[in-house]
Amino acid sequence: MHGHRNSAAPVDDPSRAGAKQPGRFDPQRAARLDDPSRFEYLPPERVVELLDAPPGALVVDFGTGTGTYAIRVAIARPDVAVVAIDEQPEMLDHLRAKPEAKALANLRTALPEELPALRGRVARVFALNVLHELGDDSLRALGALLGPEGFVLFVDWNAEIERPVGPPRDHVYGPEEAAERLERFGFAVERLEPFRYHYALRARLARAAR
Ligand SMILES: C[S@@+](CC[C@H](N)C(=O)[O-])C[C@H]1O[C@@H](n2cnc3c(N)ncnc32)[C@H](O)[C@@H]1O
Repeated sequence: MHGHRNSAAPVDDPSRAGAKQPGRFDPQRAARLDDPSRFEYLPPERVVELLDAPPGALVVDFGTGTGTYAIRVAIARPDVAVVAIDEQPEMLDHLRAKPEAKALANLRTALPEELPALRGRVARVFALNVLHELGDDSLRALGALLGPEGFVLFVDWNAEIERPVGPPRDHVYGPEEAAERLERFGFAVERLEPFRYHYALRARLARAAR
């Protein structure tokens, strides 16, 4: 193991092999994703700033849940097209039911079936609170979305921080463990200024992985 403990727990579904969190996100907890207190410790303005999407960019929210942040990005950047992807159709139903989502011409939802059609075309991907849920195959599919100058912004609960909110610490990564996993998948990773409870990483595809 070269000094590293195996970071992936046994998962309950073979398609999620490699994920740190053993269980899939429970759609019954969807309302938690719309808790307004989230914006205090993970401000959408900062996510928009870190994304730094070029004008006209195609932007993917990978694992959008109820679209809490996809909606904020689409409102803040009417000049970009946001595709909000989730593997659970009921999560996308929650997103589409929101009145503010209905009013946004630059936001649409998609299931992972659409990933092949988006390959190599996406300027920015953001994945919030998702890396610990992603199996290895999904992580590869996520990376394959990126166009030439593209990057992924990964923001997820920090295992190294004692938190009153979020998943148990052993279901998520610390920033170094997350960066090491991404590097194993061919990403070149920059460590960004962390949020109160979250780490933030900017990941580009290293040349060899293209
Ligand atoms: C903890 S929620 C976070 C939702 C949203 N990013 C947010 O911060 O409000 C994680 C979401 O990722 C979705 N998800 C997990 N693995 C996925 C995958 N491989 N492909 C697409 N969506 C996935 C889950 O269905 C769930 O809705």
